[in-house]
Amino acid sequence: MKKVLFVLLALALCLTATAAFAEKVGVSMPTKDLQRWNQDGDYMKANLEEAGYEVDLQYASNDVQTQLSQVENMINSGCDVLVIAAIEGSSLGSALALAKENEIPVIAYDRLLMDSDAVSFYSTFDNYKVGTIQGDFIKKTLDLDNAEGPFNLEITAGDPGDNNARYFYQGAIDVIMPYIESGKLVVKSGQIDFTEVATPTWATEVAQSRAENILSSFYADGSNVDVWLCSNDSTALGVTNALAANYNGNWPIITGQDCDKPNTKNIIDGKQSMCVFKDTRTLAAQVVKMIGQILKGEEVDVNDTETYDNNVIVVPSFLCEPVFANAENWKEILIDSGYYTEDDIK
Ligand code: BGC
Repeated sequence: MKKVLFVLLALALCLTATAAFAEKVGVSMPTKDLQRWNQDGDYMKANLEEAGYEVDLQYASNDVQTQLSQVENMINSGCDVLVIAAIEGSSLGSALALAKENEIPVIAYDRLLMDSDAVSFYSTFDNYKVGTIQGDFIKKTLDLDNAEGPFNLEITAGDPGDNNARYFYQGAIDVIMPYIESGKLVVKSGQIDFTEVATPTWATEVAQSRAENILSSFYADGSNVDVWLCSNDSTALGVTNALAANYNGNWPIITGQDCDKPNTKNIIDGKQSMCVFKDTRTLAAQVVKMIGQILKGEEVDVNDTETYDNNVIVVPSFLCEPVFANAENWKEILIDSGYYTEDDIK
C-alpha cells in the first residue's frame, strides 16, 4: 500500500512539474462567426497540446479592442510565444510593442500584422496565388482568349483592414484586367477598384446588400451577369443569396475561398463554381513546427523573405500552397482527406 502511495505521489509531483515548466502559447483568433477560424483554433490547440504546450486560445468576436486586451492579457499571464490572426492588421501596435518589451516572439497567423517591428514570423497561404487561381479559373471557363464575349463581370473583394484581401484581389485582377481593358469583360456597375468592391469584416450581409444594389441598378433590364468574382466564401454566400432572391438570368460563375460547409454544398448543387481550399490543418501544423523551432533556438523554416513588407519590416514567411477545388474534386480533397465527413455537408 505504502509503495502504491509513493508511486502515486511521485507521479503527481512529476505531472505538476511538467505543467509548471510547460511553455505557454497564446493563440488569438479573430472570431468564432466564421467557420475557418474555429477550425484553425481547434487544430492549433490540439496540435500544441499534443506537443506538450499549455495553450491560451481566445476569440475576439471581430472586435479590435477585445483582441487588443486579450493579447495584452496573454503577455501579462506569461505566454512564451504569441500566435495572432488579426482582425485589423494595423490595430495591435501597443500589444505588439509590449510583447517585444517582454521578449516574446510573435507569429502572424494567416493575416500579416502591420506597422510593427515586433513581428518575428508570418505563416500563411500564398495569398496572391489564391487570387491567381480564381482569375485563371474565370479565364479558362469563359475561354477568354478565344470566345467572342463580351461577358458581364462583377467583383466582390474582402476586408480593407485585412492585409490578405488586397493580395487575393490583386492576384485575380492581374489575370482578368487585360480582358476588362479590351472590353471582353464588362463591369456594368463600373465598380472595379479595390476600395469600391471591398467588404468590411468580410460580412455575408454586407456582400449581399451590395450585390442586391448592383443587381437592381444594373441588371434589372434582364441582362445576364456571367461571372461574379468573390474573394472568399463568406462574400460568395452573400452574392449567392442576393442572386437567388433578385435575379432571373443565367446563373453566373461564382468563385470562392475556404470550402466552408455551406459553400461546399453550393458547389455540389451547382450554385458556386469553385473554391480555393486552404487546409487549415497544414497551416496549424506549420505554425506548431515554427513555435518548436523558435523555442528551441533552431533555425525557423521560411520560404519567402521578400513579399510580406508590413510597412516597417519584411517579415520572414512560410507560405503554404492553396488548392483548386470544384464539383469534380471536392470529394477527394475534403472527404478522402478527412477534412469533412459526408454528414458535415449534407
Ligand atoms: C483569410 C480567408 C478568410 C477571410 C475571412 C482571410 O484573412 O485568409 O481564408 O476567408 O480572412 O475570414
